[in-house]
Amino acid sequence: MSRKIFIAGNWKMNKTAAETKELCEALKAKFASFCPCKAEVAVCPPFTSIATAVEALKGSNIKVGAQNIHWADNGAFTGEISGAMLKEMGIEYVIIGHSERRQYFGETDETVNKRIAAALKYDLKPIVCIGETLEEREGNKTEEVLAKQIKDGFANIAAADMAKVTIAYEPVWAIGTGKTATPDMAEETHAFIRKTFADLYGAEVAEALVIQYGGSMKPENSKDLVAQKDIDGGLIGGAALKADSFYDLVANAAL
Ligand code: PGA
Repeated sequence: MSRKIFIAGNWKMNKTAAETKELCEALKAKFASFCPCKAEVAVCPPFTSIATAVEALKGSNIKVGAQNIHWADNGAFTGEISGAMLKEMGIEYVIIGHSERRQYFGETDETVNKRIAAALKYDLKPIVCIGETLEEREGNKTEEVLAKQIKDGFANIAAADMAKVTIAYEPVWAIGTGKTATPDMAEETHAFIRKTFADLYGAEVAEALVIQYGGSMKPENSKDLVAQKDIDGGLIGGAALKADSFYDLVANAAL
């Protein structure tokens, strides 16, 4: 079964609205002749830049996503953003459970689970991040950690909703460090992730599931990573912040 390549830029806490306009205009020009049949491409700016990105990317093949979503419909949750608010912006994707949210903001598998349910409720497509720390990898705990993140993160999420879900496997030790998992190492883990989803939802759902790799993916290594059988794209931090490097990364992986 052939899965479509999906590459998304996670801008993290970068780009003001003015900088977003500039980057999106450059991306729109760069991707003008890029056929969406080759890959799905999205950018996920900070909340304050989403409206600007949606406007600037109108008429392009580049989709827009957010970096977080709260699980409640509304209410006394200072600083949070609801699914209804995001949906109204006209976006399609939302990143959930990034390791920086887990590490710095107390995100757990349980809150990830609630956020996935909220995204689905508002017809947003979740990009759910999982991944092990260096300590966990060195302690041979990678599979145990990933299995738990998947089991608890996807508790009560229906098989029928899985077509809207993307997984981003991001080994924490590879994020922003310049250390990429080798294609073989990443493939081994991606295959484990797909098998874990097959155990939960059956082979058909698992085969259709898009699993991105994330962690120092760049134009120089995107081709070799995405060439692996179970690596279906990437979630890109640093290399997504410049139009040239993001385009080259996508083109190398998908053309
Ligand atoms: P990086 O970040 O590409 O800068 O390593 C990836 C991510 O955290 O999504």
